[in-house]
Amino acid sequence: MGTDKETKINIMNSIKIESQILIRRCKLNDLEGVIEVNERELPEDYPYFFYKSILDNFPEAFLVATDKDNKVIGYVMWRVEQIPSMDSLKYVNKGHLVSIAVSEEYRRRGIGTTLLSNSISAVKKHKITELVLEVRVSNYIAIKLYEKFNLKMNSVKKNYYRDGENAYYMVRNADTN
Ligand code: ACO
Ligand code: ZN
Repeated sequence: MGTDKETKINIMNSIKIESQILIRRCKLNDLEGVIEVNERELPEDYPYFFYKSILDNFPEAFLVATDKDNKVIGYVMWRVEQIPSMDSLKYVNKGHLVSIAVSEEYRRRGIGTTLLSNSISAVKKHKITELVLEVRVSNYIAIKLYEKFNLKMNSVKKNYYRDGENAYYMVRNADTN
């Protein structure tokens, strides 16, 4: 899919995936489009202020994919959480993948992979020790995507979702490639 070369391009600029699909940082006026994709593609919905606070706090790791009309067709967002470190009184940062989705008609073209690889590079700049996420145990496709990035199932969070489904908690050392 040629994403290897493209992912080396600095994400301050935009990355061209195919003729007319771009990956770039999310802007305030993209949020409506992000919410539209989220509501269509995932059962976990969030209020506007939640997206806004992620954008305000972690803008470098909030990326969108857009089509030829600059319409949002995919997004990824992370937050950085401080946790007490195991071996000292200090805190360490971990990068938590909040949400990723690609519009159904644009899937399987490497957009999810490009969103994830570029947002991981960006979130790593917060000196994080780990990357973590939760995913529905039934979400085989997303799990495959995360495994491509060496995220490993760490534990099961029972009843994590509102409908009662369990989540896998997936983790990776931030320095692993
Ligand atoms: N069958 C099997 N594996 C698949 C499929 C499929 N139909 N589609 C994607 N994959 C896997 C493959 O491993 C693929 O890698 P490969 O092409 O090298 O084999 C990998 O996923 C990535 O494929 P991409 O084309 O880069 O990903 P895509 O743009 O299709 O987006 C995504 C993947 C985001 C998971 C998409 O399917 C989606 O939006 N799903 C619905 C929303 C969702 O489940 N999001 C994750 C929720 S968990 C969370 O957000 C923390
Ligand atoms: Zn989470």
